[in-house]
This record gives sequence, structure tokens and C-alpha cells, in this order.
Amino acid sequence: MSPFAHITGWGMAVPERILTNYEISQIVDTTDEWIQKNTGIRERRVASEDQSTATLAVDAAMKALELAGLSPEQLDLIIVSTSSPEYIFPATACIVQDHIGATKAGAFDLLAACSGFIYALNMASQAIRAGSVQNALVIGSETLSRIVNWKDRATCILFGDGAGAFVLQASDTPGGILAGIMRSDGSGGDLLALPGGGSKHPATLETVELGLHFVKMNGHEVFRFATRVMSQATKDVAAAAGFQISDINLVIPHQANRRIIEAAMRGLDMPMERCMVNLERYGNTSTASIPIATVEAVETGRIKPGDKLVFVGFGAGLTWGSLAVQWSGPILPKRKMYPASYHAWVRVRSLLLRIVRRVEATLWGNDINNNK
Ligand code: UT7
Repeated sequence: MSPFAHITGWGMAVPERILTNYEISQIVDTTDEWIQKNTGIRERRVASEDQSTATLAVDAAMKALELAGLSPEQLDLIIVSTSSPEYIFPATACIVQDHIGATKAGAFDLLAACSGFIYALNMASQAIRAGSVQNALVIGSETLSRIVNWKDRATCILFGDGAGAFVLQASDTPGGILAGIMRSDGSGGDLLALPGGGSKHPATLETVELGLHFVKMNGHEVFRFATRVMSQATKDVAAAAGFQISDINLVIPHQANRRIIEAAMRGLDMPMERCMVNLERYGNTSTASIPIATVEAVETGRIKPGDKLVFVGFGAGLTWGSLAVQWSGPILPKRKMYPASYHAWVRVRSLLLRIVRRVEATLWGNDINNNK
């Protein structure tokens, strides 16, 4: 029998800096009232200069590992889902791998925009169910404040920074991620895009002048698409997992806009009490929004072992997807980890590896910095 993929650890990290609607109204022509009425958002978090997509990802990951009682060396796979990666390459997942000292893990980034965490969880759970991976770390992390145009009131009011991480582990006990649905429609790619900096429009003075390195969005069309797909994707995944809609304890949707979430819940004929919403405090953190909402739902007692959950999201691509989950919680006996001291040792190890590589390169005359 193939093993089940259980969510055994979870963690979130958000920057300390809160940016309120009122503060945004000092930058662009908007008001707190308009933003709250049209989106439900009150405030969002913005990364400080020393924070980035990787540092937020590492902070969330260490919390998830600690809860799972798993050490980073036991990980086989790390997937970081992000639309605001540290670099185009190397993958942010490899930076996380190095920072946490996951010496035996493969690591890669996955880009499916706001649906990314669902896609990444589905991929990791499939690897576990196929038997090729025992322990996986899936992270959704964003610093969208670095790629939004702070002069564009249609987008800058929406987004926020943050990260959430899940540890997935194989177990023969039934439960965990039971079904997943992934969908896409590239014909709507231009509705939400970051056009510059890729191979189509490599960064030049002109692309910067044209603002092509910022998020562009047709909000109205994205809104229409989102309200169309959210409830259907929930119904489809519930059917695939054998859940009745009335069985679902909590829907955890992508936190983009309260009106979109309310429309989806109406389409499911489910009351808002059975839906997790925390976008008023974080805005839209894209791929990080579902794990952040999940962590807060667990911490406030809204999710208990055995509960039936649906994660559902949509985003650029266009992409959308959903997962049906029977919540389990940690499966290993709780083991105390000391992230701070562990971190210190891992930094030393990484530094030693870099020094050895540099010495070898100098000895053999192929130091990349020599430009030979
Ligand atoms: O993760 C996926 C990410 N994307 C989304 O989830 C976006 C989904 N879309 C939305 O959430 C909504 O489309 C928005 C909240 C972005 C906009 O709401 P809307 O009801 O679709 O407004 P709209 O774009 O149709 O614009 C209506 C009016 C326009 O003024 P006029 O032309 O009617 O005079 C806009 O210029 O609202 C104006 N407007 C604003 N006014 C004050 C647009 N943004 C703002 C603003 N403050 N921030």
C-alpha cells in the first residue's frame, strides 16, 4: 500500500513592519475606506532591508521542523514556491537548503504564482505517496513589496510580505493530503504578469523606464476568473477525496480579496464561519497566504486532528488548484530542537564549504572571479 503524506509541522514568518491603509493613502490616491470596502484588507507586512524571500522562508521552515520534531538532515526534498525569488537562479530553495543545513535534500523552486503552495504541496505529497520521498519541506514565501509599483493604486494596496512552511512526512496511517487538483489557462497570462527581467524582455534601461519590472494586473478580469473557479475547484477536490461539502470543517482559501472568498463560500452554500480569513492583517501574500492562514487557524484552535480541510487558490498563469486534507499533526515523538545553535553550526559548515571550494579553485586555477 502506498504511504500517506501527512502534514506534521507548520510555521509562519512575517516582517514586524506593519503598513496600514492610512499610510498607503499618503503615497497614492486611495483611502482606508475604499480599500477595506473593496478588498477587506486593513494592513499588510513589509520586509525590512535585511529580510528577503529566503530569510522569511528559513524562519518559517525552522518553526515547522521544530514542531514536526524533524532535523533538517532528515529532509529528502525542499520545494519553495514563490513569485518573488531571491534570484532567477540559483533557486531560493537551494539558499534555504544551505541555511538550514538540509544536507541530504534535493531543492527547487516552483512558480505557479498564488496557486504555487497548492501545486508544491501536491507535488511533494505525490513524491511521498510514490515512495521516493519520506520527509519533505514545502514553503511559500514572498517579498512582493519589492516587485509592486508603489505608484499604482490598483496593485500596491493588495499585496504583503510573508512566508509559511509545512513539513510533510510519510506514514501508513490513512490521512494527510488525500486529493489534489491543479488547473491552468495560459490564455489569461497577460491579466496578471511581471513582464520584465525574463528572456522576453531582459532588463535594460528601457524596461526599467517602462516599469516592466513591476506587477501588472487587470484586477477586474482576475476577480471574475477567481469567483468562477474557487467554488468549483473546492467541489471537485472534495468529490475526489470522497468528502461531502457538509463534511468539510474548514475551507482555507487564498487570501486575495474578501469579496472573492465570500462569493466562493456562497457558491458552496457554506457559511463564512467554516472559512479561514486573515487577509485583513496581511493583505495578499500570494503563495504564502494559505500556509499563513493555516498556521493561524491551528493556533487559534480552528483546526484539530481528524478535521477535513480544503485548501483552494488561484493566481497568475492563470492557475488554480485545490487540495483535500485530513489534518493529522506531528507524528514523531516531540524532540526538542535548538534552532539558534543549530543555525550557528550550519553557518560555519556552509562557510567551510565555500572556503574549501575557493581554495580548490585557486589551486587549480579556475577561480570564477579570475575571469579566465
Ligand atoms: O492573487 C491574485 C491577485 N489578484 C487579485 O486577487 C485581484 C482581484 N481583483 C480585485 O481584487 C479587484 O479587482 C480590485 C480590488 C483590485 C479592484 O476592485 P474593482 O471593484 O474591480 O475596481 P476596478 O478596478 O473596476 O475599479 C473601479 C474604480 C475605478 O475608478 P473609476 O474608473 O470607476 O472612476 C478605479 O480607478 O475604482 C478605482 N480604484 C481605486 N480607487 C481608490 C482602483 N483602485 C483604487 C484604489 N483606491 N486603490
